Amino acid sequence: MIPSREWTSELMHNRGMPPHIIRHSHAVRLVAVTVAVTLGKAGYGIDMRLVDRAALLHDICKAGSLINGGDHALMGRRLMEELGYPRIGEIVGQHVRLESLEVNEAMVVNYADKRVMHDRVVSLQKRFLDLMDRYGKNEQSMQRILKHYEDASEVEQVLVRCSGLEPERLNHLNLVTGDHALDG
Ligand SMILES: [Fe+2]
Repeated sequence: MIPSREWTSELMHNRGMPPHIIRHSHAVRLVAVTVAVTLGKAGYGIDMRLVDRAALLHDICKAGSLINGGDHALMGRRLMEELGYPRIGEIVGQHVRLESLEVNEAMVVNYADKRVMHDRVVSLQKRFLDLMDRYGKNEQSMQRILKHYEDASEVEQVLVRCSGLEPERLNHLNLVTGDHALDG
């Protein structure tokens, strides 16, 4: 079961998702859907509606976790399970860290999130330099971010190899205005 776009928007609204996280989520959706189309053309059976909704909802628990602490990916996973959408939950739960290098909807959303800084599409390098700037407070956190960067680069290479994705072309999505493009 996959929720409708209307239900998804209502949930984002009802959970009090702040505007900047809504903008971020829409940008992640745009990247994710574009990557999913590329995979689809290469013959992978990627569920576009699943990618679309999971991308929109990946940070559904982010604002709450910033205030109260906790793992927002795991919290999002549980929330979606409680609401009756475990397939969305599975993807939300893996948007920070993937459970495998299998080419699937979870990989698409995970990668897309790492290509979006706030609401702009950027390279992995730029995104992680920003993370180091903001969160690399000591050697330990720096090492953790570096490990994350290596993992994200590996995912990017998998996507490039299997679908011919050109990572730098995704930056062109910054020229798309509004949220209408590639809808549905
Ligand atoms: Fe997140």
